[in-house]
Amino acid sequence: MPNLPERVLELRALIENYRNAYYNENQSLISDYEYDKLEAELKTIEEQDLKGDPNSPTSRVGSAAGSVFDPVVHGEKMMSLDNVFDSDGLRAWAARVGDGPYLCEPKIDGLAVSITYQDGVLVRAATRGDGETGEDITENALTIQGVPHQLLGESHPELIEVRGEVFFELADFAKLNAGIIKDGGKPFANPRNSASGSLRQKDPAVTASRPLKMLVHGFGVWKSELTSQSGVYQQLAKWGLPTTSRYEVLATFEDVLNYVTELSTNRAEVEHEIDGVVIKVDDLAAQKQLGFTSRAPRWAIAYKYPPEQVNTRLLDIRVSIGRTGRATPFAVLAPVTVAGSEVEFATLHNQEQVEAKGVLIGDTVVLRKAGDVIPEILGPVVDLRDGSEKAFVMPDICPECGAALLPTSEKDVDLRCQNAKDCPAQLRERIAYIGSRAALDIEALGYVSATALTNPVFPDEAPIRTEADLFSLSMDQLLPIRSKVLDADTGLPKHDADGNEKIVDYFQKKDGTPSETAIKLLANLEIAKTRPLWRLLVALSIRHVGPVAARALADNFGSFEAIFGATEAELAQVDGVGPTLANSVISWFELDWHKQILVSWQLAGVQMATPGHPGPGVASAERLFSGLSIVVTGSMESMTREQIEALIIENGGKAASSVSKNTAFLVAGPGAGSKLTKAEGLGVLVISEQDFLAKLPALSN
Ligand code: IVH
Repeated sequence: MPNLPERVLELRALIENYRNAYYNENQSLISDYEYDKLEAELKTIEEQDLKGDPNSPTSRVGSAAGSVFDPVVHGEKMMSLDNVFDSDGLRAWAARVGDGPYLCEPKIDGLAVSITYQDGVLVRAATRGDGETGEDITENALTIQGVPHQLLGESHPELIEVRGEVFFELADFAKLNAGIIKDGGKPFANPRNSASGSLRQKDPAVTASRPLKMLVHGFGVWKSELTSQSGVYQQLAKWGLPTTSRYEVLATFEDVLNYVTELSTNRAEVEHEIDGVVIKVDDLAAQKQLGFTSRAPRWAIAYKYPPEQVNTRLLDIRVSIGRTGRATPFAVLAPVTVAGSEVEFATLHNQEQVEAKGVLIGDTVVLRKAGDVIPEILGPVVDLRDGSEKAFVMPDICPECGAALLPTSEKDVDLRCQNAKDCPAQLRERIAYIGSRAALDIEALGYVSATALTNPVFPDEAPIRTEADLFSLSMDQLLPIRSKVLDADTGLPKHDADGNEKIVDYFQKKDGTPSETAIKLLANLEIAKTRPLWRLLVALSIRHVGPVAARALADNFGSFEAIFGATEAELAQVDGVGPTLANSVISWFELDWHKQILVSWQLAGVQMATPGHPGPGVASAERLFSGLSIVVTGSMESMTREQIEALIIENGGKAASSVSKNTAFLVAGPGAGSKLTKAEGLGVLVISEQDFLAKLPALSN
């Protein structure tokens, strides 16, 4: 044996260790991405004179099977796949294997199994193990949804080894982990580990209780006349075996590249985790000619996508306070790059969620970020715990103002800061919400402005103490403000390159003159004074009053005066309002500082009523759709269905959800289904989106 470089020994030891944890203990001690990098490094060093060394893990597949299950020797070896990470790598592979057609399919992040059918009857199932010998998991495999115990149809081969991937759908994984924790068990770090752990149970009844799925992607022993991989899939599907609906047979290399890009774009829509695309030479004779290396077929390649999962440290769990005072735990992480962006925080939604995920402060956790989707902690790597980890305890005081965190009612699972008026976090969040698209849509009133206006470095300089102060802001008040920059999701200060808290003169330029933002903010506020009444109502952050309820209230009453002058019963009567909401509006108005908001807004020139509105009650009587029940169905082209419904309400009509003989007319777009059929059956008038819009005098927002 040559004298091996130290790094080779080190890499081999690390890889063996990680493989053992992964295949035998269902634990990912490092992310797949980091693991692939180690393997690639080892391969590069070995390339010179150690290629094919049987002592190296790079010449082998998986890990020797554990001792819990009986060994099964595979009829034909179960191979791995070689990886490429970019189009150059893929092009080099295509050049080696020659022209298409190529079969492309998702690379499923699960665990490989081999199932043997004798004369159509399932007789044996095994994990991959080291490729030659796997573990006998027959009893467990019989419990996997969709795996036939007896093949359908006829002309079954005397013997066939079907190969495929067993996995969990993401949603099933989350439920499973929550259940395991509840029962005091050890959570899985990610869906792949949980699939492996669930399939490799000593008691098949446990496996049966877990919604594992399988997709078939090849075969081992099988004397068949078929000539293509795609032909094989069609035959296997006819026998009732689960095959992917996502495979495509493509003629050219360009088509393959397109497939790779397209699946990557739609990756988040796939129900289970995928870590790339597998590209295979479709012609079986060509496959045979190309053959295998010691560990992988030459006729197939895996194009690996950038990682969506990384391991990182959970440094702390803190809570942030939202606009309604709700305390939301979030994870503070050792910063990592995942799916192209740096992640430092991840929401944990609520205390139950923290418990359901089974994470402890100090854990190494698996973090997942799928494309634009917000980052999520999947679970802890339990095997890396050293005993110093601590459970999260929900604080009982607000981190920003020290007031008590309490549930609002007995049923409430959320804790809320009770200091609505003065809590700096609640005020900041409410003011930022006023600026958001959902409310008054004030471009210059984003999170940074809202912070500067409510939580400046010198609190005495804060020009906004409550919403009452918003519309009377003046340039004199804005100019001197110095402010920290806070993270919008967590409320934590951001830091500059030197690690100091970032402080900005947000409204003043270096020469002391007003900044563009300051000028824009005051101009934007002027315009916001005439926003529709429902938007102003949304801006008040009254609990339960979102756009739909606000539109209904504004439409029915026509002014703030009429809304807050109404009794609870009068409010509750309005379509789309109801008792909970009515109660919430009444309670809001009981507080003096809330009343003061309305007084101040009026004094500042805010339009407190809808111009031309005839007043409460009679509201709908003279409007275009008064007394009409209108249903919208199918997809709309120039706006969303919700926007069409809002227009119906704004014009005095009722946007109903089902068609009846009382329906005035149905607005139907492409894809309309049962509602259209019903309307036609009842003789209800059906009109298009264009017809509907043409009825309106002018579009308002
Ligand atoms: S074909 C001869 N197709 O990925 C081996 N494998 O990293 C041919 N995998 O061992 C394998 N999805 O367990 C193939 N669509 C797919 C796959 C797939 C996932 C697994 C398989 C393989 C591993 C290699």
